[in-house]
Amino acid sequence: MNGADIHLDNRLALCAEFVRDGTRLVDVGTDHAYLPVWLALRGRIESAVACDIRTGPLKNAENNIKRFGAQATVKTRLSDGLDSIDKNDAYDIVIAGMGGELIAEIIKRTQWLCTGERRLILQPMTRAESLRLFLCKNGFQIVDERACVSGRKVYSVMVCEYDGIIRKCEGVYRFVGRLAEDDSNEAKEYILNINTKLKKRILGLSTDSDDHSELDSIIKKLDGLLE
Ligand SMILES: C[S@@+](CC[C@H](N)C(=O)[O-])C[C@H]1O[C@@H](n2cnc3c(N)ncnc32)[C@H](O)[C@@H]1O
Repeated sequence: MNGADIHLDNRLALCAEFVRDGTRLVDVGTDHAYLPVWLALRGRIESAVACDIRTGPLKNAENNIKRFGAQATVKTRLSDGLDSIDKNDAYDIVIAGMGGELIAEIIKRTQWLCTGERRLILQPMTRAESLRLFLCKNGFQIVDERACVSGRKVYSVMVCEYDGIIRKCEGVYRFVGRLAEDDSNEAKEYILNINTKLKKRILGLSTDSDDHSELDSIIKKLDGLLE
């Protein structure tokens, strides 16, 4: 690697860690294109398509690709989700920095994600539980999940592969996924953050409802994970 370089924050650095060496990458909702450019500068990927639904962010991406001299490896594409992406350009797909429901929507309408050896690297900013539920119901396995702290926030990054098996997404799994199996400080921070939100949520539920007793049991289990 020569010349100027890009700094990735912990969130994008964790996404980058999960990208397979030598892959063809698509970065959905790329904005600044930091992730594909960073990987290209290190010779970690064969190619990348940095795509975004809006022209402004795509212009940012183009400027950075040129500025860091990554044009040979990273191309840009105006695309709503993966709609304008050729499946042959997409083996590892990063969807980071969007809401969990939007990420689920993008996956849902891209049938070819269920074929070949695709790897999805997903980093929801909100509603991670909706995304986990969608993945379980639609045959995507979360093969790895880790947390990271970036700025003052804690995030989860999930690595997913399609195997067609429909799974249950119950109890603590729905809220903290595979981070329940992780002893790292970052995973504990994530669990603490979720548990604090659930403790606020339960205050709005009637104590004799099924929802209350279900949430109460999840909170107790999360408390147990934090001991
Ligand atoms: C907060 S930025 C995230 C940038 C980068 N992925 C990151 O994590 O730092 C979200 C980007 O997603 C783009 N976006 C939103 N909806 C999209 C969609 N349906 N398809 C493609 N890009 C989308 C937005 O235009 C914006 O540039």
